[in-house]
Amino acid sequence: MDSNIVWHQATIEPKDYRSKNGHHSGVVWLTGLSGSGKSSIANQVNKKLYERGIQSYILDGDNIRHGLNADLGFKPEDRKENIRRIGEVAKLFADSGTIVLTAFISPYQEDRDRVRDIIDSGDFLEVHVDCPLSECEYRDPKGLYKKARTGEIKGFTGIDSPYEAPDSPELVLESNAYSVDECAEQLISFLEKNEWL
Ligand code: PPS
Repeated sequence: MDSNIVWHQATIEPKDYRSKNGHHSGVVWLTGLSGSGKSSIANQVNKKLYERGIQSYILDGDNIRHGLNADLGFKPEDRKENIRRIGEVAKLFADSGTIVLTAFISPYQEDRDRVRDIIDSGDFLEVHVDCPLSECEYRDPKGLYKKARTGEIKGFTGIDSPYEAPDSPELVLESNAYSVDECAEQLISFLEKNEWL
């Protein structure tokens, strides 16, 4: 980094936003295979938090790739940069007093750990949306697994590109065994237990 760039300390700090909002803020990092239910669960949680007057926001894979990360593909180095940028954005949201729900495959443990490292300890929750590949492929909501199997898409996660399940996530949501609403409730209960709400 250029040595002429100096960090500006903000007058209003994260703790001030938190105290104004009346709840904790941080990053809830949902990781899982395509079709595992990350976006659906994040949206259901976000809706429930919104109805309770909690300041929350979703950063979602497909949407971020339409704008901020439109220049990135799915090669390992692109996925790494994708997650790095999202981690930085998520940190800003958390600093602004927001509970940010991220929904990215984020297939590499190293990349997720790098995000954890830039967020204050205790303010990053890694949540594994755990669903067997066979079920994700059966659901195939966007028809992408089918394209991956026929070779129309190369380097598709779970087919010919790896997915590293979290080593020690704070929470596992078994999206094959529970409905979207039940998974959302499990996540909200976890936030309550950890005094985020
Ligand atoms: S990553 O791995 O975290 O950088 O991916 P992410 O930004 O979450 O984007 C995943 C969505 O992109 C679509 N898509 C692919 N996924 C995986 N592998 C390949 N090759 C690929 N190409 C396109 C897919 O719709 C993913 O959306 P979700 O919501 O996960 O199904």
